[in-house]
Amino acid sequence: MKMRGNGPAWQTHVARSAIFCAAIIFLLGLWNSTAWPQSVSQDPAVERGHKQFEQACGFCHGPEATGARGPDLVRSTLVAHDVKGDKLGEIIRLGRPDKGMPGMPLTDEQVLDIAAYLHARAAEALHSGGVPSKYPIEKLLTGDPEAGKVFFNGAGGCKNCHSPTGDLATIATKYSPIDLQAHMLYPGGKHTIVVVTLPSGKQVKGPLAHADDFVIALHDPSGWYQSFSRDRVKVELQDPLTAHRELLDKLTQADVHNLFAYLESLK
Ligand code: HEC
Ligand code: HEC
Repeated sequence: MKMRGNGPAWQTHVARSAIFCAAIIFLLGLWNSTAWPQSVSQDPAVERGHKQFEQACGFCHGPEATGARGPDLVRSTLVAHDVKGDKLGEIIRLGRPDKGMPGMPLTDEQVLDIAAYLHARAAEALHSGGVPSKYPIEKLLTGDPEAGKVFFNGAGGCKNCHSPTGDLATIATKYSPIDLQAHMLYPGGKHTIVVVTLPSGKQVKGPLAHADDFVIALHDPSGWYQSFSRDRVKVELQDPLTAHRELLDKLTQADVHNLFAYLESLK
């Protein structure tokens, strides 16, 4: 009802925003034409989600989700806590009509694509240093650190790759809360592990140091650089980050909150 009263003003606003957005998209296109499609095109869901987002949400949240009359979604805690659309689906369908966000009847697939797009945007912003480091910790700390600890050491499987007294010992002092959460959800860096099987059947495993058509090289467990002719050995590449991401995809909302509360206690 309110909408109708505001009709003309709202429409001019739409028109003006559309021109403005078109200009921005054009400029971003010029600047970003090589960088953005590269990171996006790896996952078709992200690309579909981007289009969907521009159509359904861009007017209020900005075409790149960084906010307009609606809030920035790249830095949104709700989005960071979303796992495969479980939080986003609800807010998209129900909206917050009293606060200016209408509910929209999108399908599960559309929600998943939008979620994929927003998570990709958040990861991208993080790795380009675009996330503000000051963010009120109370907004993030709603979990139970004890439950997080139990989960970390048990069902969560985190301790297979991490240690609260080793690599994560002082993790809470390394990052601000918002960055810690983002690094837990979207860790970065190159961490490919290579397993080389020699003709004798012996295996050498370590972080990938070099790869081309002819040679594969790694740092073995004692730190030595070893290289092998590719035609003489069998090569298997493992990306522990893939495992990390797949694992996080399976977590529930409560797990994410509890884990984060636990990690935040590691100082
Ligand atoms: C007509 C404007 C409008 C449209 C269209 C719109 N939103 Fe919103 N959205 C808002 C406003 C305003 C808020 C802030 C509500 C509040 O203060 O609680 C909001 C809040 C949100 C939030 C919560 C952010 C947070 O951190 O609490 C999410 C997530 C969100 N919108 C996602 C979407 C998605 C995804 C779409 C498209 C499918 C969409 N919105 C379309 C106006 C809009
Ligand atoms: C299969 C191995 C694997 C599993 C299981 C795993 N991770 Fe990770 N995790 C990684 C790798 C690899 C990195 C990147 C390390 C780096 O950046 O130094 C990482 C990074 C992180 C970081 C960021 C560390 C930093 O210093 O930036 C956090 C926090 C984290 N993981 C938490 C978890 C939690 C919580 C779980 C359990 C739900 C988990 N991980 C399960 C492999 C794993």
